[in-house]
Amino acid sequence: MPRKIIIDTDPGVDDVLAVLLALASPELSPLAITITFGNTHAPVAYTPAQIYASLARDSRPFRTLRSVPGVVGKGDSRHGTDGLSNISETHPHFDPPELAEGEDHAHLDLSRKHASEVILDCLKTEEPGSVTIIALGPLSNVALALRADPETFARVGQVVWMGGAIDVPGNTSPTAEFNCFADPYAAHEVLEAVKRGAFEMIMAPLDITTPHTIHFDQLIHDVEQAKAGTHGHRELTPLREFTSAMLVRVRGLMKSFGLPDEMEMHDPVAVWYAIENGPAHQAAAAAAAGAEDNGWRTKPRVFSVERTGELTRGMCVVDRRGTDEEDAVLRTKSAISSGKNEDQNAKRGSSRTGAPRVITHTPGKATLEKMLLGRIFAA
Ligand code: BDR
Ligand code: CA
Repeated sequence: MPRKIIIDTDPGVDDVLAVLLALASPELSPLAITITFGNTHAPVAYTPAQIYASLARDSRPFRTLRSVPGVVGKGDSRHGTDGLSNISETHPHFDPPELAEGEDHAHLDLSRKHASEVILDCLKTEEPGSVTIIALGPLSNVALALRADPETFARVGQVVWMGGAIDVPGNTSPTAEFNCFADPYAAHEVLEAVKRGAFEMIMAPLDITTPHTIHFDQLIHDVEQAKAGTHGHRELTPLREFTSAMLVRVRGLMKSFGLPDEMEMHDPVAVWYAIENGPAHQAAAAAAAGAEDNGWRTKPRVFSVERTGELTRGMCVVDRRGTDEEDAVLRTKSAISSGKNEDQNAKRGSSRTGAPRVITHTPGKATLEKMLLGRIFAA
């Protein structure tokens, strides 16, 4: 049975690819797409969500999709940056139609409720443990839902979050990953609830997402060549035109920074995890029943999110005391002294219940590339 999911997203370029991957995956059944701020302001973010949901509906690989899920938010499509390389200005034909008061959207069941309320509504009506929230942006909506009704929120099967930088530098500051930096208070609130054992969280931090790249040549369709009919087998679908327009600017920016000609698949890794893994208790049951190793590994990690640091806002502060990392130091020390600290540190290490599980291994970036291109573009 497909896994019921809620996608909470701050529509930016890799969010779009992640959402499209989810919409094209039979293993997942989206109940709702909820919108948070991040890559752009929440009111404007509503627009790209409408665009790509419509495109997914209209484009060939998605024809068999069941009803397209609802999008939450209030929007004015004509103002501000759209988080998608200003596609509203460069390609206005992708702008969603203005809806009159009370008029239905062609592809979406729009809600005017706050995203956190929609999350709670879904959790209330679905079987406890059956819904996975895939959070692709700052955790603001998730934290608000949790704060408003912790009992209902505890019905969530799992939260899968793209966020954080554990053992690697940040991408927004020297110490912080963007989603964690953007709302460290929300990240802190959610993480502390996980530590109390309120629900399960799987994290896809920069440590694992950054190495999952796809070359821009695979993602960007040469529109001019396609119009001239010289682009081989790649038909220029509206979806390809849209994703290419959105990615060209990102490619240029990466080039200007001297970065590789590749796009980091941060958010798609979180969706990919949800496609291939159930909540941990299901995975554990499958492992006990002798299920095959599917190439994914997660590890509990204990850390806290810095909220107010002058240089460290959004940093995942790992307490390495009593862990293998510190043990290496202790072992070295014990070789030159008595080593009597070991018992004390073993105790600290044993207190790690309710930690989020961090993805440490995937089936590999080539597998993601094949799945993503195959499912979204039928390539
Ligand atoms: C995260 O930041 C956003 O810009 C991306 O969409 C991703 O969710 C990576 O740090
Ligand atoms: Ca994102």
